[in-house]
Formats: sequence, C-alpha cells, structure tokens
Amino acid sequence: MPYEFLLYSVADRVATITVNRPDKLNALSTALILELGAAIDEAVADDGVGGVILTGAGRAFIAGADISELAGQTPMTALARSTRGQEIFGRYERSPKPVIAAVNGFALGGGCELAMACHLRIAGEFAKFGQPEVKLGILPGYGGTQRLPRLVGTGRALQLLLTAEIIDAAEAYRIGLANKVVPNADLIATATTMLQQMMANGPLAVRSCIEAVIRGQDMSLGDALAFEAAHFGVLSSTTDMKEGMMAFLDKRAPEFTGA
Ligand code: COA
Repeated sequence: MPYEFLLYSVADRVATITVNRPDKLNALSTALILELGAAIDEAVADDGVGGVILTGAGRAFIAGADISELAGQTPMTALARSTRGQEIFGRYERSPKPVIAAVNGFALGGGCELAMACHLRIAGEFAKFGQPEVKLGILPGYGGTQRLPRLVGTGRALQLLLTAEIIDAAEAYRIGLANKVVPNADLIATATTMLQQMMANGPLAVRSCIEAVIRGQDMSLGDALAFEAAHFGVLSSTTDMKEGMMAFLDKRAPEFTGA
C-alpha cells in the first residue's frame, strides 16, 4: 500500500521499512505511527517476506514522538495515544518474522522504544539512544519503562530514564541495548546479512523462538518452561524438523519449507 511517511520495499525476502520524515528527524506523528502499524502488518502478511528491517531516512532513526502533537494533549487523549502506540509497537515485537532495527542516528523517546520493540538493534557508529521524556515532564509511554529494564537491567534503565542522558552507540552496546555497532555505511548490509542467516534456519523454529522468548517474559518461570516444552513438542511434528536432522546426518544444507 502507498505510505506518506514511510518507504517500503521488499528485496530478497527482506522487507525494509524506512521512516521518511527527515525534516522533523522522523518524529512520530499520529499519522506516522498508524502507517508503522500498517507496514508491519503488510510485511507479516506477505508470504514473500521472511524478515524485516526498520530504519530511518536522513540523520535520525526516530527522534521521538512528535512534540508538537504532545503539547496539546489532555489526560484522555494522552492515555489513548499511549495505548495505541503500545499496541502498534507490540506488533513489531510479536511479529513471527525477525525484525531488526537498523539504528542510523537519533533513537530518542519513542524512537528508542520502537527500537526496543524490535527483536535486535544494530547501531550505526553515529547512533544515539535515550529516553529524555522527563525533560518534557512526561514518562515514556510506548513501553520504555518496561522494555528498557528488561534489556539493560533496572539500575541502568533508571539511570537513563531519570537523568534523560543520551548515550552513544558504543555505550548502548556496552550495556546491552545494541546488539552490534557497525559503520553507518554498513548498517543495512549487516542487518540484511543477519536476517539472511536467520532466514536460512527453519522458519517455524525461528517463530517459536521469538514467541517463547517474548511471551515467556510475561509468565512465571514454571509457566514459561512449560510453554517452551510445548513448542519443542509441536516442532517435532514438522517436516522441517525431519529435514533439519536428515540434512545434518547427510552432511548437506537443509531445505526448509516452513511445514
Ligand atoms: N518532535 C517534533 N519535532 C522534532 C522532534 C520531535 N521529537 N525532534 C526533532 N524535531 C524537529 C525540530 O523541531 C526541527 O524542526 P524545525 O526545523 O521545523 O525547527 C527539526 O526536527 C530538526 O531538529 P533540531 O532540533 O533543529 O536538530 P538538532 O540537531 O539541533 O537536535 C535533537 C537534534 C534530536 C537533539 C533535538 O531535535 C531534540 O532534542 N529533539 C527532541 C528529542 C526528544 O525529546 N524526544 C522525545 C520526545 S517524547
């Protein structure tokens, strides 16, 4: 579908969603957030897509929610904004196909939150991360207070949230917020190579890993282990499992079909 604030393309089974509002450093207006929801739905629904890259046009990944919209919000519209954004970001996290945030520049506020809703974050060397909402008298409303401590631990999360400190790519890597740091020129190629590596594996197994990790975080350890065991059992009914094991024993590359 056509997008006003996004570029969307598919090549070699990788869908690339590029936030394209560079004059405002890709700030997330309501219209842009709705398009982000439509774009991940399109990628998930397309059988020709095996993985997704999310990136930004220009010098920012996403410099946060659009402050010009936030400035006029009331308690009820703010509640609705937060709930809608959380639901749309959740679609990235729940995607059965791996989603990599290729963080090319500023990932602030909602930009950092959306990057955290992706499965992995590859940072360009000039990327900057932060949750500066308290400077505006608000808190992150798109999942930042929950996903940041899960990724970097409570102490580091509170440091970033309470100081509004903006950190560079090297520090983001050091604390576990970024999976990898690469030169900006190599960002998309690196994300593409990682997705290709994932897409060469059994797609049902990849999907089960995502689901077990993401949904398991909301469960007790006992329930999450039972959930993992159920996935382990179901996967043993698949043609892909037989193919993966036979290919190993035959010393050849597997040919997965997703069945
Ligand atoms: N919402 C709306 N507009 C934004 C924006 C945001 N979150 N972030 C940047 N912009 C706009 C600026 O208003 C400016 O627009 P203009 O040219 O029409 O005046 C344009 O993007 C370029 O930003 P500018 O501030 O001039 O760039 P800079 O290099 O001097 O600073 C930042 C870059 C990221 C440090 C700065 O833009 C910033 O602090 N942005 C807000 C970050 C934030 O608080 N995000 C959380 C929001 S909840």
